Amino acid sequence: MISVKNLVKQYPDKKALDDVSVTFKAEETTAIVGPSGSGKSTLLWALNLLEHPTSGQLQIDDLTVDFEKSLSNQEVLELRQKTATVFQEKALFTHLNVLHNLTEGPVKVQKKSKQDAEQQAFDLLKQFDMEELADRYPYQLSGGQQQRVAILRALAMQPKYLLLDEPTSALDPELEAQVLRVLKDLAKKDTSMVVVTHNMAFAEQVADQVVFIDGGKVGYAGETEGFFHSDNERIKKFLGAMSF
Ligand SMILES: Nc1ncnc2c1ncn2[C@@H]1O[C@H](COP(=O)(O)OP(=O)(O)OP(=O)(O)O)[C@@H](O)[C@H]1O
Ligand SMILES: [Mg+2]
Repeated sequence: MISVKNLVKQYPDKKALDDVSVTFKAEETTAIVGPSGSGKSTLLWALNLLEHPTSGQLQIDDLTVDFEKSLSNQEVLELRQKTATVFQEKALFTHLNVLHNLTEGPVKVQKKSKQDAEQQAFDLLKQFDMEELADRYPYQLSGGQQQRVAILRALAMQPKYLLLDEPTSALDPELEAQVLRVLKDLAKKDTSMVVVTHNMAFAEQVADQVVFIDGGKVGYAGETEGFFHSDNERIKKFLGAMSF
């Protein structure tokens, strides 16, 4: 379980997160949704410490940190090992082929043997029907293929939690569908995922939980069904503005 309590992110002229407390359950998919600029990325990035909130606490399983205190390198390292993040674009090492993109982290960071890392990489590629891409370089891949490899690269680190920040927003609808299929497969396998998404159809179909961030505050946190059938005027207005 990942849990944040009373998170505040104060920029000089803007409070990006305003007392956010929310729990992301293990083995479930949580969609973070909300208007542009509402604080979704700021929240997601606090979970892997790419963002350092002004105050509040973060707990991942048995590890807890308080953002008002300075974190030790050890704490940062241990927390980061729990998660892996997939960004919107430019997610791959351009000078490495697909296989090496998938083995770089396990070999360099986790000190796995090259042989074990390659075996794991091939297993992952096979699992998602992408074996034929192993020798290609990122520039030889479509956007959708690149993004799927980026997801596998995150999985190759065997993180407990997979964090994704709008993993399909740079893609056209057809490529987006390919990436969403991979995420649906992962969700079915009870992967613990937190996905920031603008794709409400995807959120409705795949997420177990929805967190709605609105103006830096939590506007809803709970079952997906309850969000999409909410009577709350603000939520109804948001969903009405999203065509899906
Ligand atoms: N470095 C910064 N300095 C000042 N304000 C910032 C900074 N970074 C982000 N913000 C502001 O914080 C708010 C939250 O930003 P954030 O990136 O979390 O939004 P978001 O919900 O992910 O938006 P989007 O859907 O457009 O990606 C925004 O209003 C943004 O302008
Ligand atoms: Mg964002």
